[in-house]
Amino acid sequence: MNDKRFIANRELITDDGDISLRPTTFDDYIGQDKVKANLKVYVAASKARGEALDHVLLYGPPGLGKTTLAHIIASELGVEIKVTSGPGIERAANLASLLTNMQERDVLFLDEIHRLNHSIEEVLYPAMEDFALDISTGKGAGATSLRLNLNKFTLIGATTRAGMLTGPLRDRFGVICRLEPYTAEDLVRIVKRSARLLKISIADDAALELASRSRGTPRIANRLLKRVRDFAQVYNDGIISLSITVKALNDMEIDPLGLDYNDIKLLSALVEKFDGGPTGLDTLAAAINEDAGTIEDVIEPYLIQLGFIARTPRGRIALKAAFKHLGVAPSSKAAEQLSFFGADGKNE
Ligand code: ADE
Repeated sequence: MNDKRFIANRELITDDGDISLRPTTFDDYIGQDKVKANLKVYVAASKARGEALDHVLLYGPPGLGKTTLAHIIASELGVEIKVTSGPGIERAANLASLLTNMQERDVLFLDEIHRLNHSIEEVLYPAMEDFALDISTGKGAGATSLRLNLNKFTLIGATTRAGMLTGPLRDRFGVICRLEPYTAEDLVRIVKRSARLLKISIADDAALELASRSRGTPRIANRLLKRVRDFAQVYNDGIISLSITVKALNDMEIDPLGLDYNDIKLLSALVEKFDGGPTGLDTLAAAINEDAGTIEDVIEPYLIQLGFIARTPRGRIALKAAFKHLGVAPSSKAAEQLSFFGADGKNE
């Protein structure tokens, strides 16, 4: 991330000379259409008024472009962006120093905001609401507090876990956007755009195969594109055909829907060990020896998008498509549950 510089065509060059695949304008940014359309309106309106954009919270699974969007918002607003993260701020004074250095209408991007220490979080409340820092000096009866005014800025918070934000913090965001896993069509467009930037030629059917195995996530699609390019270089004179793409992905143990070892482990536990559920998150986490937060944030969103599992008030359940994908016939109890919950996991 450090020492990036803009070059004429607005793409970024990073330290290692690799061209960043991140889009830098709303028009370059593919997918998340609703979020993008709304953000465009808010950016245009605040710009026209000459005011700072209201604070923005971006949430959703990792790899969907929260950081990218934050940079795009700042660039479209024509302001500077300062980047930090919840775990990166160790003391209230670090945050205070960042905030006092913000220029009028600048953006502060705070990644993993749910990991901000609660005592530090309190510094944010007056900063977000009144653009002020409350500084207390002295102790006991002689303690006084003074208020320091800040320039009006925009906080962009990003999190994979909106549910972990405290109410007071969440309430101070005027714009809250949820990013969803991408469709295969959007990922095809992203793969083709990245291939163009990397000067790689890729066949249409190969791009679709790669997109379909990327778990709805551009970060994964771009990583797989680079690995498939390696296979193509070694085995196929650099030509990314469908067959070399299938070979590369199979050799990397990524299944036709993009499920990897961890996804299959979770699905198998739910389908086989727990007979399709319902199974509580913590029970499932213990069974597969995985952190409950990782299951919720990283593994489940794509399985839910595929219609393989659903979250119900009584726990996680496996849906018909999951049994089919694993080639397991549901027990009579599981079959009863499957007819009670429809393909989308809703009570029919
Ligand atoms: N590269 C990574 N994410 C992207 C997106 N949403 N649009 C275009 N290119 C991308």
